[in-house]
Amino acid sequence: MSEKTKRVRRIGVLTSGGDAPGMNAAVRAVVREALTNNVECVGIRRGYNGLIHGDYYLMTGQEVSHILSHGGTVLYTARSEEFMTEEGRKRAVDICRFLGLDGLVAIGGDGTFRGALELSRLGLPVVGIPATIDNDVGCSNYTIGFDTACNTAIDCVDRLRDTMSSHERCSLVEVMGRRAGFLALYVGISVGATAVLLPERDLDFERDVLEPIREARFAGNTHFMLVVAEGVCMDEKFEGVHTVFDLGNKIKEAIGMKPTVTVLGHLQRGGKPTARDRETASRMGYRAVKALVEGRANLIIGTQKGKIEEIPIEDALKMKKSIQMERYDMLRDLQNRVPRH
Ligand code: F6P
Repeated sequence: MSEKTKRVRRIGVLTSGGDAPGMNAAVRAVVREALTNNVECVGIRRGYNGLIHGDYYLMTGQEVSHILSHGGTVLYTARSEEFMTEEGRKRAVDICRFLGLDGLVAIGGDGTFRGALELSRLGLPVVGIPATIDNDVGCSNYTIGFDTACNTAIDCVDRLRDTMSSHERCSLVEVMGRRAGFLALYVGISVGATAVLLPERDLDFERDVLEPIREARFAGNTHFMLVVAEGVCMDEKFEGVHTVFDLGNKIKEAIGMKPTVTVLGHLQRGGKPTARDRETASRMGYRAVKALVEGRANLIIGTQKGKIEEIPIEDALKMKKSIQMERYDMLRDLQNRVPRH
């Protein structure tokens, strides 16, 4: 800390947007590292909504004991319409001033960070921690919650496979991810899917849906597992296909085989966080408080090549992360097929 750096006495912490397993571990790390540095920590409930409506309390080290093994977020979370308005954001900053906050740690995804940027422009020092099961934050290789969500989805698909194989059926499984296919790709690789449909690819029904089923059948498979990222239907990647159920009907019309359709939905957001999520969240929470205490702010705490990095929030929001298409190619290569002559 330089001579001129103002001593940080009190900070706030909130979780915002869709919850992600591991958020609690990040909250715990923020509270504990703050207290270790003689900084008070105010927990703000229900994200930016709670900030605007003065929904806060002073947190103790004891109350965050053992929360790191629980999914969800003890601070609750919300998506706030009011915070989208200038008036709402000014109100939020006024509350922070009233509370005497020297900084705010905002845990969430891109939407949360856009909000944090606006607060920083109004003079509040902020630090963001990426937490979303979608893994779609451009400035960070990894976001808290992704690993747990992958494992949950994999467990569900493994169970589905047991019954699909007994009945020799075709299964369509939709996984979350909003407009990103990271979850679908990792799940698809890990369950040995017949096909994975990603929003990042140009899709062709014959090439990407029917051909993989045929290839698997010729190679001896009698059941088929297709993993679909929810963004595929959101973006209407196949004409007239708005839901995964429409896609099921399209397959039935084309080849007479009616797939069972399973939407994993919010199941993927729950459950005990994995070691990776607990450990990453702890490192990020720790680093966020270190940054504020040492006088650095308006940053996102991201991971790059496995290391924790501090990225200025304005730059962070401009960064793009592309899906690893070489992993998609690998998945195709590892599928069961007969040689083509
Ligand atoms: O961003 C996390 C996420 O779970 C997305 O994968 C999904 O599209 C969205 O949130 C669902 O949001 P909600 O819980 O508000 O329906």
